[in-house]
Amino acid sequence: MSEKAAAQATNNTVTLIDNATGRRFELPVMKGSTGPDVIDVRKLYQDTGFFTFDPGYTSTGSCESSITYIDGDAGVLLYRGYPIEQLAEHSDFMECCYLLLYGDLPTADQKRKFEHDITYHTMVHEQMHKFIEGLRRDSHPMAVMVGMVGALSAFYHDSTDITNPRHRMVASYRMIAKMPTLATWAYKYSIGQPFIYPRNDLRYSENFLHMMFATPCEPYKVNPVLAKAMDRILILHADHEQNASTSTVRLAGSSGANPFACIAAGIASLWGPAHGGANEAVLKMLEEIGDKSRVPEYIKRAKDKDDPFRLMGFGHRVYHNYDPRARIMRQSCNEVLDELNVRDEPLLELAMELERIALEDDYFVSKKLYPNVDFYSGIIFRAMGIPVSLFTVLFAVARTVGWVAQWNEMIEDPTQKIGRPRQLYAGPTRREFKLLAQRG
Ligand code: SDX
Repeated sequence: MSEKAAAQATNNTVTLIDNATGRRFELPVMKGSTGPDVIDVRKLYQDTGFFTFDPGYTSTGSCESSITYIDGDAGVLLYRGYPIEQLAEHSDFMECCYLLLYGDLPTADQKRKFEHDITYHTMVHEQMHKFIEGLRRDSHPMAVMVGMVGALSAFYHDSTDITNPRHRMVASYRMIAKMPTLATWAYKYSIGQPFIYPRNDLRYSENFLHMMFATPCEPYKVNPVLAKAMDRILILHADHEQNASTSTVRLAGSSGANPFACIAAGIASLWGPAHGGANEAVLKMLEEIGDKSRVPEYIKRAKDKDDPFRLMGFGHRVYHNYDPRARIMRQSCNEVLDELNVRDEPLLELAMELERIALEDDYFVSKKLYPNVDFYSGIIFRAMGIPVSLFTVLFAVARTVGWVAQWNEMIEDPTQKIGRPRQLYAGPTRREFKLLAQRG
């Protein structure tokens, strides 16, 4: 879908010396357009017999990408080179979807056509009502989303040939367009209300809020301030380099699995509380803390190695500075609470007190633990009347464009191959089978 600026080989190499044998190996260094250079270890095992060892991939680049750049130390986030702060201020989610998919901001005509095409894919096959109605009404909405998005591959066979660029584009548009419809179905089903169909006269975020809160009984007017806040939140969550769920989508896609199955895998990974499930976990943590007077107790617990409790919404694998998205989210939080006249939201005051104390505490300062994107989002969602169980679903709605853009980039990469990591084996070496009678 977009032209890639290929990374360059450099004349630079690094030398690996095996001190046990004195063997020396030259490893090439590659350079991107910005960010750290990489040591190309693709031939390491073939040339040296060594694997690298990096559980959690703390020092490993899994792919070459041109979509999103993060500088964790500087707190920088760029979508195709554009700073997240400028996109949140001046752009909208549909423009950002086009930017992430195609590599540049759309012209007015391109934007009009893109929004039209997405809008006309927002309906979901009517038969899928039967699918969701087979689930319990108290199912977690993320379980519903994993099931329904995976089931899209059972309904949309005409866009699953990943070698066909048109199929890939149609499947990409379908997933971006249908996620809000499926997400609101999950909500309506859980509260026993009828599903609300998308409307082609509403823009993406308005349509989402309309499907969430309208009923057949009376007209529902979307609050433009809330629609703008929702649109900005979708922009902030749209993509984030090779995070756990995006890496899951890429790994699933590397085997040639159909796009709907890959995105369902990404939703499953995002669900975890260490990842996208953190926004739900933050709300639950704030409600458990309950009062500012208990903040020191929970800060103490977060620092206690023997206590599994962690400050949800704090810390990040890449950001060792304030997550730029959290800063924007905090501003949105104030706007939404003002609009809804809930300025004295106790959870916001509690969150700000928690943030103030944590940012002064040596443990968090020394480990460079700052609020991340999930720290404030839950407070906004709750103020908008969105149930806690739907918070991570909203994250999945936003991140679908990132997953889809990264999936397309991987499929179009001529060097891509199936992802198949190796391991450091620590189990029993060869031993002979013992018959039952010989086992004592
Ligand atoms: C998202 O990757 C992405 O880009 C994800 C994301 C995206 O947009 O896709 O940004 C979205 O997932 C944001 C993160 C949401 N998760 C949370 O808020 C959950 C709470 N955070 C932690 O679980 C943790 O910070 C992680 C999982 C986010 C990052 O963990 P890492 O990189 O594996 O770091 P680590 O666990 O090795 O922590 C380093 C140290 C440890 O102490 P030591 O063992 O070195 O003594 O910091 C401590 C940790 O114990 N630490 C925390 C902490 N986070 C890290 N201590 C208390 N509270 C925390 N939140």
